[in-house]
Amino acid sequence: MDVFKKIQELLEDIEQTMVENADELEKFRILYLGTKNCIKPLFAEMRNVANEQKKDFGQKLNHLKTSAEARYKLLKEGLTESQGGEEKKQIDLTRPVKTQALGSRHPVSIVMNQMITIFERIGFVVEEDREIEEDWYNFTAMNTPEDHPARDMQDTFYLKDSTKYLLRTHTSSVQARVMMNQKPPIRIIAPGRVYRNETISARSHCQFHQIEGLYIDKGVSFADMKQTLHYFAKEMYGHETKIRLRPSFFPFTEPSAEMDVWMGTDTDTTYRLTKGTGWLEVLGCGMVDPNVLENCGIDSEVYTGFAFGIGIERSAMQRFDISDIRLLFENDVRFLNQFRSVL
Ligand code: DAH
Repeated sequence: MDVFKKIQELLEDIEQTMVENADELEKFRILYLGTKNCIKPLFAEMRNVANEQKKDFGQKLNHLKTSAEARYKLLKEGLTESQGGEEKKQIDLTRPVKTQALGSRHPVSIVMNQMITIFERIGFVVEEDREIEEDWYNFTAMNTPEDHPARDMQDTFYLKDSTKYLLRTHTSSVQARVMMNQKPPIRIIAPGRVYRNETISARSHCQFHQIEGLYIDKGVSFADMKQTLHYFAKEMYGHETKIRLRPSFFPFTEPSAEMDVWMGTDTDTTYRLTKGTGWLEVLGCGMVDPNVLENCGIDSEVYTGFAFGIGIERSAMQRFDISDIRLLFENDVRFLNQFRSVL
């Protein structure tokens, strides 16, 4: 057989060899690189090759040998890689699942979202605004005179060295912002966080949440307000819920009232939250004072309106039987985890 042809054939065989496992790789090694490999005898053929072809033959033979070595290296690498790959693919289906830590909604958010949805259903639109507010929006526009005790440093957090900027003490400041920018009819709710410089205890905190409501149009009456708030109470606390309105005072409404919802005194929490009366104070409300409308550029001869401010924390505490308001702000995961299944 032509030795040149033989070299060519072997070269092709080597290039085309694939191995699936270590045995096949070893067979390749023995065949082409072992002590009795099939390339060796070809070197002995050198003396039978014509002189002018010897150089070419030698080069081709060497090329064949290095090709076998290179191919062996390549196959070996491929095999270890694919074995590693297979190991990775071997998934143990019996292993226990690593549980993903699920987050939970904060009880204040749960109650607040529920309240928002109730008002959205009857056409109120959410308006959000700043927590660092100007004195004018928080107090002056809301008909709260300069010498009102609420402005006292004892109650209000003013920004350092400022008499103008403060942390809003109520979401009523959003009323002024909306009235300055929108024309009636206005029907908004403004949920958010508010701050007061109060001593922290089981019952009160220096930060809490409110939802402000404002409805301004032609011919809005106290009866409209009462029906709206009764609807809210029924949706929020159950259809048999009883409410009562007590006369009250707020600088920005006239007349003003506070609304209580009947909770009874069955549990320790309701007893404590209602101070033993069974009535939970839920919100302040009233007809928007004409001064407020005028301060914010709305003609009080043409328009009337009602407003209300709901406290969130008390309802959240009643709903989830939470006895201490501080638990709501400590963010202890052992506490928060308990609300995992509530939306
Ligand atoms: N801003 C009052 C507060 O923080 C709550 C309130 C009372 C809001 C009467 C109102 C309202 O809009 O009409 O205690």
